[in-house]
Amino acid sequence: MQRQRVNVTVTGAGGNIGYALMFRIASGQLLGPDVPVALRLLEIPTGIRAAEGSAFELQDSAFPLLRDVLVTDDPVQAFDGTNVAILVGSRPRGPGQQRADLLEGNARIFGPQGAAINAGAADDIRVVVVGNPANTNALVASSHAPDVPADRFTALTRLDHNRAVAQLAAKLSVQVTDVHGVIVWGNHSALQYPDVSHATVKGRPVRDLVDEDWLANEFIPRVANRGAEIIAVRGASSMGSAASATVDHVHDWVNGTGGDWTSAGVFSDGSYGVPTGLVSSYPVRSLGGRWAIEPGLSIDAFSRARIDASVADLVAERDAVSALGLLGPGRA
Ligand code: NAD
Ligand code: LMR
Repeated sequence: MQRQRVNVTVTGAGGNIGYALMFRIASGQLLGPDVPVALRLLEIPTGIRAAEGSAFELQDSAFPLLRDVLVTDDPVQAFDGTNVAILVGSRPRGPGQQRADLLEGNARIFGPQGAAINAGAADDIRVVVVGNPANTNALVASSHAPDVPADRFTALTRLDHNRAVAQLAAKLSVQVTDVHGVIVWGNHSALQYPDVSHATVKGRPVRDLVDEDWLANEFIPRVANRGAEIIAVRGASSMGSAASATVDHVHDWVNGTGGDWTSAGVFSDGSYGVPTGLVSSYPVRSLGGRWAIEPGLSIDAFSRARIDASVADLVAERDAVSALGLLGPGRA
């Protein structure tokens, strides 16, 4: 028996990630093979034609689960009654830029979208922010949605998590499914901390399998700077892998993580010394449709210093959007 229809809003639907995402959503990979979906595609006027063309392609794909596609440049219409909001629409960085360089231009997109979510989204709304700088944009959106519980706003760090798993699997010549317990802490920036202290491969601690020098000087910088590496090699920022990680994030949030934790940017409750009110990447499990931060993990001095550096980066971004007057009344 098919389940109730879920409304999914994708912003920036005429862009690269939006294009890669919508076919995976419509095919049932986001929510499950028995969940009908209605897509709401939000664009700005210059992106509307691209989104309309993509909507034609969705129609031509005759996806059995796809019930409806709406293309609009009106955030109120796009978020009305929506259950899942995937906030992609914003500018990507180019070669030589840091994601924080996008902050002033991009962060102002997320206040009005947070307000539209507050006004019209369904009671079970779940939001994932993909547009960079993702953690701080999630904070901005949430601060304009005072009636929506903070734990419904998240930022995508699953791409970093997946990259860390893939790098370890390649180094140790194992399958990605053999790698467990990786964590990405902090900001989706070059100061993120991909942590293997609790990771295992085929039951053996990763720290017994690789040396400290490789971890500190190759693994961590490779994962943390992979976005820039993609931009340098591909000439554009990650698209398919970003869409895939977004699907993983929402799928696990809705359907549960099973045995392993994963990584996601969620509002801090003060765990692991991260100040409350920041959207930080943590080890999380989804239980009963809610992300829960994994408690009680030991943090050694090496990890502590890197988590603190990433948190300082988040604080600097929060202070920057605050100074720009972009934080709403919700949770500043
Ligand atoms: P893109 O330029 O191809 O597409 C962005 C689209 O957003 C454009 O079509 C644009 O018209 C639209 N847009 C701009 N402002 C909008 C608004 N206010 N409302 C709705 N739509 C709007 O870019 P892309 O490659 O799809 O990347 C999008 C964002 O995702 C960038 O900020 C990029 O840095 C980020 N990103 C994040 C991750 C992550 O892991 N968090 C990974 C990859 C990319
Ligand atoms: C990524 O990690 O690939 C994205 O955040 C894009 C970027 O700017 O690095």
